[in-house]
Amino acid sequence: MQGLRLVKKDLVMDPALPMPQLKKGQVLVKVAYASVNPTDADVAAGKYALMLKLSGGNHAVKTGLEFSGTIEQGNDTFAKGDKVFGYVDLMAGQKTHQQYIAINAQFIAHMPTSLSFEKAAALPLGALTTLVALQDLAQVKAGNPVLINGASGGLGVYAVQIANNLGANVTAVAGPNQEDFLKSLGASQVLNYHEHSISELPQTFEAIVDLTDNLRFKHIKHMLTQTGKFIPTDPTKHLGAFLGNVTTSKKTKYLMVANGDSQKLKQIAAWVDDGKLQTFVDSVYDFSGYHSAFNRLEATGKRGRIVMKVGEV
Ligand SMILES: NC(=O)c1ccc[n+]([C@@H]2O[C@H](COP(=O)([O-])OP(=O)(O)OC[C@H]3O[C@@H](n4cnc5c(N)ncnc54)[C@H](OP(=O)(O)O)[C@@H]3O)[C@@H](O)[C@H]2O)c1
Repeated sequence: MQGLRLVKKDLVMDPALPMPQLKKGQVLVKVAYASVNPTDADVAAGKYALMLKLSGGNHAVKTGLEFSGTIEQGNDTFAKGDKVFGYVDLMAGQKTHQQYIAINAQFIAHMPTSLSFEKAAALPLGALTTLVALQDLAQVKAGNPVLINGASGGLGVYAVQIANNLGANVTAVAGPNQEDFLKSLGASQVLNYHEHSISELPQTFEAIVDLTDNLRFKHIKHMLTQTGKFIPTDPTKHLGAFLGNVTTSKKTKYLMVANGDSQKLKQIAAWVDDGKLQTFVDSVYDFSGYHSAFNRLEATGKRGRIVMKVGEV
């Protein structure tokens, strides 16, 4: 089995990795496509090395957080050959830049029937993370004004659509040439961050979801309603704001998608099959072209996710 190993901050293709051994509650998946996330670049640069080790997730393959593929060895819910998509635990899970993964069945669901493997690999983590942010943490209701900062990236394209599905009035912040695209996904207003600052916006928001992690609560709290929620994507950078939650009705919310949630993946798959959620692939690479796929992370103006074809299914 082949997969990407990290050797002193270099990713190398290892053609002879051992096949994963299944633990209780796990199924074996043959990976078809896997995405390349900004977090993968951080991991490859050594950012999470100690946390991966301490969490018991120190597997040979360290990159790859989501995937599409087929069941190789299933359980009561998933039969051999079923098409599935899912994500892995950032710390403890086996990573997806390899041809087979053993994974807890809570982290997968049957693929939307209308999607190719290529498109399904670009869907789970972005859709699930922003569903948790908007539905569970922000508790967005119909008519709520919601701001999505970083709206055209891997998470943003889903955040805009899901906020719209929940009935919110969506303001999207993105780079140039994204206005028509983001309006087609349901944004009512689009701000180009190269030309304008969000501080120019006159209204207040029930939720501000920051997918860039540039914003700080103290700088944007005047842009929240009295019950407004601020949701950054890297909670480790906002410890002061979490402590400050006790003194204000405006809250900073802790977003960390670590547990498996197959129910939410099913809801996402149903939205896709009902035409309420589109998935976006920025670019596709062969597994052997992984260096180019990782280099693509540096580009601006991407829409949705970079994916690699990991294996034939
Ligand atoms: N907490 C969790 O559970 C969780 C889960 C998954 C991901 N994450 C994190 O979520 C973050 C977003 O992930 P992603 O995959 O969506 O990243 P991404 O694909 O790189 O998207 C980031 C977006 O932000 C835009 N942007 C950059 N600078 C900006 C600025 N100053 N103002 C407004 N927009 C700006 C980029 O636009 P340009 O193209 O113009 O640069 C890009 O569209 C990452 O940090 C990731 O690690 C957290």
